[in-house]
Amino acid sequence: MGSFVSRRGDRALASGPTAMAHSPLLPLAQRPRRLRRTASLRTMVEETVLRPADFIAPLFVVEGKEPPDEIKSMPGVFRLNVTDLVKECRALHRLGVPAVALFPKLDPKLKDDEGTQALNEETLVLRAVRAVKRAVPDLTVITDVALDPYTSHGHDGVLTPARDDVENDRTVEILCRMAVLQARAGVDLVAPSDMMDGRVGAIRRALDAAGFTGTGILAYAAKYNSAYYGPFRDAVGSAQAAGTRLLSKATYQMNPANRREAVTEVLLDDAEGADILMVKPAGLYLDIIRDVREATRKPVAAYQISGEYAQIHAAARLGWLDLNRCRHESLLAIKRAGADLILTYFAREMARALR
Ligand code: PBG
Repeated sequence: MGSFVSRRGDRALASGPTAMAHSPLLPLAQRPRRLRRTASLRTMVEETVLRPADFIAPLFVVEGKEPPDEIKSMPGVFRLNVTDLVKECRALHRLGVPAVALFPKLDPKLKDDEGTQALNEETLVLRAVRAVKRAVPDLTVITDVALDPYTSHGHDGVLTPARDDVENDRTVEILCRMAVLQARAGVDLVAPSDMMDGRVGAIRRALDAAGFTGTGILAYAAKYNSAYYGPFRDAVGSAQAAGTRLLSKATYQMNPANRREAVTEVLLDDAEGADILMVKPAGLYLDIIRDVREATRKPVAAYQISGEYAQIHAAARLGWLDLNRCRHESLLAIKRAGADLILTYFAREMARALR
């Protein structure tokens, strides 16, 4: 079981219940500590158990043949060329991690205002999908449907002529074509992460019209405008938007102050045909995960994002937190809150630790 049950000191206590020689000081009928007395009892009443199949590993892919390139703010996370990506996918599959979510880091020269590379059949992420599917067909492959890796401004969609907002409906049209290309490349689940209105329904119709009725939609249903995406934006080089004067992602990603609105968003995506509903970030939004769990009968996913990962690593580096225990506890909390699936940069290490 997890690292919590095998702590030293248990053995001394595990020989049997202590008989009270005298009547107890407190005449208590209820003593919840009884079920915490031994490792065995604690395991028996454990309510939440993590397993490798709970995790989805987000992976970053780059062009070329360079060796793995570690992302500074995300220790242990690398940008991988397609060959190394395939190796990593094999390793994850062997460890029992059922799925990966692929994120491309594009050469900045290929980016433009309209994100045109997103619709190129030979774009990096689609080649990566085909390579992974060929090598590890049983691994579930997920790709983001959003324009941020492809746009020079770093936004998830295309801008209005005045460049003062992301244009919803025109963006959705592009996302639909993007999703169909991803399905054609062999993706199992497309994951719209853009937060445009109506995109789940539109993508569902586009996939069906193209014959991809079996391709699922993992909707980033309640995605918040979080400051904790910073390390990810470094990783894929989409940080420009953060520095853009005219607009921030606040016109499409949710306000972190809002709770009821998450249920509104989730019920829309549910009704539009999403197969799995996601909350993002995860650890700071456990109340939202719980609300979503209660609002839908579909599977709920949560994304433990780059900043959550970076935070734990940074504190561990300073010697202020225990990496392995905090990693475990952070994921346990997300599952306990109601997530069936967790996207986490800890996926590989967790799967290994749980074996
Ligand atoms: C954007 C996207 C983001 C992440 C995944 N897809 C962040 C953003 O809005 O810039 C963040 C993941 C992370 O921080 O780990 N489509």
